[in-house]
Amino acid sequence: MRIVYLEGMPHEHILARNEGAVRVLTLARTEKKNAFTSTMYTALADELAAADADASVRVVMLEGSGGVFTAGNDLGDFMANPPAGESSPVFRFLMQLVDLAKPLVVAVDGPAIGIGTTLLLHADYVVISKDARLQMPFISLGLSPEGASSLLLPRIVGQARATEWLMFAEPIAPEAARESGLVNAVVAKEELAAFALARATALASKPAGSVLLAKKLLRDPHRAEIKAIIAHEGALFVARLASAEAAEAFQAFFTRKR
Ligand code: COA
Repeated sequence: MRIVYLEGMPHEHILARNEGAVRVLTLARTEKKNAFTSTMYTALADELAAADADASVRVVMLEGSGGVFTAGNDLGDFMANPPAGESSPVFRFLMQLVDLAKPLVVAVDGPAIGIGTTLLLHADYVVISKDARLQMPFISLGLSPEGASSLLLPRIVGQARATEWLMFAEPIAPEAARESGLVNAVVAKEELAAFALARATALASKPAGSVLLAKKLLRDPHRAEIKAIIAHEGALFVARLASAEAAEAFQAFFTRKR
């Protein structure tokens, strides 16, 4: 496998490689369950922009590593470097995700917590393993919905499920995720990587101009609305980060019994 480092400095926790016309991006911070730091958001946003700009890339694929997609935002980083506004790395990443012109295929194994689940709402094809653990624990953490989840989740899965998944904040069973339309397919853990790459490759073999146009037609009418809600949710989320409820929940995570 060829590791391709793109513009700028390579990032030790975001790996990029080419599989034919598919640019595969891998979250690789396994010792911390691939939890996102600010620099990971920046690196991933840069990689998405680079994939869009590279004519040899037709499809982008995102995957985790070590049996984990991501534990979501690094809670320590959240406390040390809370996002301050729309220029913050996490918001830049989300906006880049919304702006991505090329199709995005995501493969999820193990935990996909917080933004690990909400980023799926912006993907074009999602396959998860039977061991995937999707969860949006924002409310349990004293925070609030992010990543346009308050808009897109009810639209995709219906109000009842969206409310349940966001408010109770419990893990979502893989089959429920598929039945609701949140993800496209559920496969065995051992088949996940090959399945996702096969889907990405199938998409990459279609007429590129038509694929881009299809995505544009599907996404363009909603892009401004989605960006506005990301900004609105973001401002509320930043305020919640400074709340006593969040401080208590974060403290509980870091002092939990092992
Ligand atoms: N932020 C910072 N560190 C995290 C993290 C996060 N979101 N998720 C995991 N880690 C760290 C743990 O602190 C631990 O570090 P240590 O070995 O230095 O103590 C390491 O990653 C392994 O995590 P651990 O909890 O021991 O693994 P696990 O397999 O028992 O559980 C998770 C995995 C993902 C279920 C669990 O780590 C978890 O719930 N993480 C928090 C998820 C979360 O609330 N994310 C925020 C969403 S907004």
